[in-house]
Formats: sequence, structure tokens, C-alpha cells
Amino acid sequence: MLGNFTYCNPTKLYFGKDALDGLNEELPKYGKNVLLVYGGGSIKKNGIYDKVVAILKANGKEIFEDAGVMPNPTVDKLNEGIERARAAKADLILAVGGGSVCDYAKAVSVSVNCNDDPWDKYFIRFEEPTCYIIPVGCVLTMVGTGSEMNGGSVITNHGQKLKIGHVFGEEVFPKFSVLNPEFTFTLPKYQMVSGIYDIMSHILEQYFSGTDDSTSDYISEGLLRSLIHSANIAVENPRDYEARSNIMWTATWALNTLVAKGKTTDWMVHMLGQSVGAHTDATHGMTLAAVSMPYYRYILPYGTAKFARFAVNVWGVNPEGKTQSQIAYEGLEVMEAWMKKIGLVMNITELGATEDMLDGMVKSTRIMDGGYKILSEADVRDILKASY
Ligand code: NZQ
Ligand code: ZN
Repeated sequence: MLGNFTYCNPTKLYFGKDALDGLNEELPKYGKNVLLVYGGGSIKKNGIYDKVVAILKANGKEIFEDAGVMPNPTVDKLNEGIERARAAKADLILAVGGGSVCDYAKAVSVSVNCNDDPWDKYFIRFEEPTCYIIPVGCVLTMVGTGSEMNGGSVITNHGQKLKIGHVFGEEVFPKFSVLNPEFTFTLPKYQMVSGIYDIMSHILEQYFSGTDDSTSDYISEGLLRSLIHSANIAVENPRDYEARSNIMWTATWALNTLVAKGKTTDWMVHMLGQSVGAHTDATHGMTLAAVSMPYYRYILPYGTAKFARFAVNVWGVNPEGKTQSQIAYEGLEVMEAWMKKIGLVMNITELGATEDMLDGMVKSTRIMDGGYKILSEADVRDILKASY
């Protein structure tokens, strides 16, 4: 039975080859000062920077830059960004990049007018903003996180060896996002497949929970089938517009709050992956891939019926003459083979995790209670050990 819920997604999307023109509609809604936030420079190489700056200038904006947002943005960078936004008296923060740039822009947006320490307030105490939030817009160049249409913001604190996400409410969602699949053509294959697995993981985190009949689970199965189909094409031909556009759209729906409505969710793969990320600074989607199989094999006995449904409806396993458990395990085998085929990293050793990090990773793994088994610390240790 669907639980009670409220649904509202305030982000306006511009999708397709001409999506960037949407900036001309959005920019006049905001004041003159725009803080242009981007990463390590990919947008300068592929020409997206020049296009965005030209549109900002044509709309009479004063541009202030905040470059160098790193993958897995840090609390130190956040503090720098807050100062830049204050100095610019920013009326709009325009994030041009992937999830890291977009997440970072949101974290800056809720911190500029906040007197508290933002790390403690938002990422340790999980409080909601009580100050004026600067509007954020996003031009997406890397597909995976869903940050373009959600309130998520993940920040890493290397000093504390913590990587923590705060899922903010509607007021922090980007006001608008520009999604041009062609902007993702220049992504290195490693990033592309990492993003593809991030999408899959977001769907699975919301799918592997609950035993009731939920429309959300049927939507999730459809999204997963589209993702697998398009990923197979994109891995062979990264410039296939149809496949890249389907992947981009799937990513948005995988984590824009829709498929979580009315049901419980898990999120343990992300908690394990974020802990690995806090210790290794590895690419987000790869950390998820590396812990997924050990985690799913560990919890399968507690949610066998759902894993069997997944095997049949998503991976096309033939159920005839097999027990539920056999079907369920076969589904994971097919999934594992596919993950290897598209080039995902399947262990945390390859991501830089060493034995001496185990205790720290166990300690920094947050335990969630919506999955098929609430893990103990010993369970977390077993799963992480099996992920080396
Ligand atoms: O920095 P530049 O030079 O731009 O290079 C980036 C970066 O190195 C590169 N890149 C992006 N677009 C490109 C490109 N290279 C060539 N051509 C392009 N078009 O890709 C690299 C990775 O970018 P990043 O933004 O870090 O990737 P992603 O989108 O996967 O974001 C990862 C961050 O998002 C968080 C993760 O934890 C991680 O910190 N997440 C955010 C979520 C949310 N907001 O809801 C949920 C997710 O589960 C996730 O935790
Ligand atoms: Zn993710």
C-alpha cells in the first residue's frame, strides 16, 4: 500500500540540443550579479564555457567566477565559495558541470547568509536552512547524480574522514536546469560508466525496500530496462545521441524524488560507497559499483522475493523450474557480468582502499533502516572486507 505523501518538484527543465537557449528565458528573472561556478576546466576545453559566458553577457549580467570545484567537493572549497558569493553579492549561482559542481552550488546557496558553521549545521546536525537561499541554476555536463532536479548536496570533510549528503527541501532545488545530451559527449568513458552505475544504484536504493505492491517499483523497472539498453549502446558508441539522451533523462527521474514516493527506501550502498569515498576520494559511481555485489549478496536472503522479481523483470532471467532463491541469485550473476562488461570497477582495492582503512571505513558508514536488513557494525565490516 502506498504511504501518504506530498509531491512537488519545482525545478524547470530545458532538455535537448537547444536547451541552452533556456538561459535566455531564465536569466532575466534574476539580478545582475551571477556567480559562475565550474570544475577543473573541462568546460573550457569543450566550448561550453564560451557559450554560457556569451549568453550571460548578452543578458547584461556581471560575471563573477568560482572555478576549481573538485569531484567530491570539500568543506574547505565550500568555505572559499561562500566568501566569493558574498564578495560578488550574487543574485544567482549558475553551476556549469556535473553533480559535484551542482551539489557545491547548493551548499554555497544555503550558507552565504547563514551565521552558523555550514558543515556542522547542515552535514552533522542535518538542520534545515533558516536564512535567505540564493537561487541556483544548473547547466549539466555529466550525467548520474540527479542533482539537476533534486535537493541533494554531498560534501566531503577530509579532516574528519566523512563524506555526507544532506537532502534539502524544495527551496534548495535548482530553479532551472539545462540538459543537453551533447554536452556529455566529451566525458571520458570512465566517468560515463561511473555515472551510468550511479543512476542504476539510485533506482536500486529505492527499489530494494518494501514487500508491498507499489507503482513506484514498476516505474523503476522500466527506468532500469531503458538504462541497461541505452548503456549497452553508449559504451559501444558514446556519440549516439538517442542513447545518451535516454541515459540523461533516466538519471533525472532516478533521483528527483518521484520513485521514492509512498514507499520505504534503502540507501545502504550509498552509505558504504560514501565511506569508501571519504577515505579514498574515488569516483562516486565506482565506489557504489565496488560495494554493490557484496552488499546485495549479503542481504538477498532477507528480501528474496524482490530480488527474484528484479531478476525476471529487469534482467530477463527465465524462472521456469527454479526456486525463488535460485532465480534471485541468477539475477545478481547476470547483473555482475553486465557491470564487468561495461567497465565498472568491481572492488575497492582498485579504488585505493588499503587494509588499514577498514576500521575507519566501518566507523564512518552511516547505518540506514529502510532496507531488507538493518546492518550491525559487524555486518558492515563483513561487507567491506568482501569488497576488497
Ligand atoms: O572538473 P571538470 O574539469 O569539469 O571535470 C569533471 C570531473 O573531473 C568531469 N566532467 C564533467 N563533465 C564533463 C567532464 N569531462 C569532460 N566532459 C564533460 N562534459 O567529470 C568529472 C566528474 O565530475 P563530477 O561532477 O564529480 O561527477 P558526478 O556528476 O558524478 O558528481 C559526483 C558528486 O555528486 C555526489 C557524489 O557523492 C559526488 O560528490 N552525489 C550527489 C547526489 C545528489 N545531489 O543527489 C547524489 C549522488 O548519489 C551523489 O552522492
Ligand atoms: Zn549516487
